[in-house]
Amino acid sequence: MRIASLPEAWRHAEVPQLPAIGPHIVDEFARTIYGRTPEGGQLTDLVLRSRDNSVLDGAADRLRHHAVIACPLGNLELDTITHLPTGTSSAPVVVALNFKDNEEPYATVLEAGYAVLTVDYQQIEPDDPAPTTPGVRALFPTKTPESWGAVAAWAWGLSRLLDIAEHLDRVHTTNPVVLGHSRLGKAALWAGAQDERFAVTVANGSGCCGASLFRHPGGEDIAAITTKFPHWFVPSFSTYAGNENNLPVDQHQLLASIAPRRVYIASAEDDAWADPIGEYLAVVAAQPAFAPNGIGYHVRPGTHDLLEEDWLHALDFAKR
Ligand code: GCU
Repeated sequence: MRIASLPEAWRHAEVPQLPAIGPHIVDEFARTIYGRTPEGGQLTDLVLRSRDNSVLDGAADRLRHHAVIACPLGNLELDTITHLPTGTSSAPVVVALNFKDNEEPYATVLEAGYAVLTVDYQQIEPDDPAPTTPGVRALFPTKTPESWGAVAAWAWGLSRLLDIAEHLDRVHTTNPVVLGHSRLGKAALWAGAQDERFAVTVANGSGCCGASLFRHPGGEDIAAITTKFPHWFVPSFSTYAGNENNLPVDQHQLLASIAPRRVYIASAEDDAWADPIGEYLAVVAAQPAFAPNGIGYHVRPGTHDLLEEDWLHALDFAKR
């Protein structure tokens, strides 16, 4: 495992007492935290809406697609954007949801040789405890106490982006990367745990219910996250508020569940709400499940953000 510049004080941090790494854990995470992802959701139509041409070589740098995904109770329609490195005929792909209505810049990522396929996360499921417009969860029947929360819906969306990537020119899906920041880092981890097509899973500043350990005190806890974001999880998850030690799982197991596929976790030193030390300790605890270069980590100075340097460290790891 490679760790870039670990803060001196962290070297003495100790992994708390944790549940053991073992099989069948993904199911346990579905039951207790994220909810069960239903079967179904088929890409049925993918229409190219526009292509922005590069001045340099006339090749398309940005492709806008309209995708139709048939679900049991209706269609989910997505407007995606694919950013392509200029001049390459077949780039490896990163699928990532975005917070910014598709308008996030990706210049550095493209320089690293990757294409990015992205969609605004709320096109998949509104980030609202009482949404006024329905998302994908309304397109599947029967709600049960273990039905999926919004984080799982976003994770499902990441898998659908990979379905779309499989149909794109100038992109290949050998060793695809799934990446997310913050709440979307939680979704990236849950997507990586469930969808074995993802070769590399990257979670940046993913914090509580992402990479950080529930049993390491600090930052956001179950009481805080389930009060403010009850729609993200199964309702019964809140019964573990203040009772973290009785949760049957902890997040090092989620990271380990992705092995032998590869995982990259990134933290920021001053991102106290995400508990960066708890993220680091989860990586330490998960490490035995991975091959030598199977899990990577960096912590950088600064606060909660997905910076160019975070992308570059992660993609450098993905390439190896
Ligand atoms: C809030 C939330 C975090 C989440 C973050 C984000 O701070 O409490 O759990 O990761 O938003 O998505 O930016």
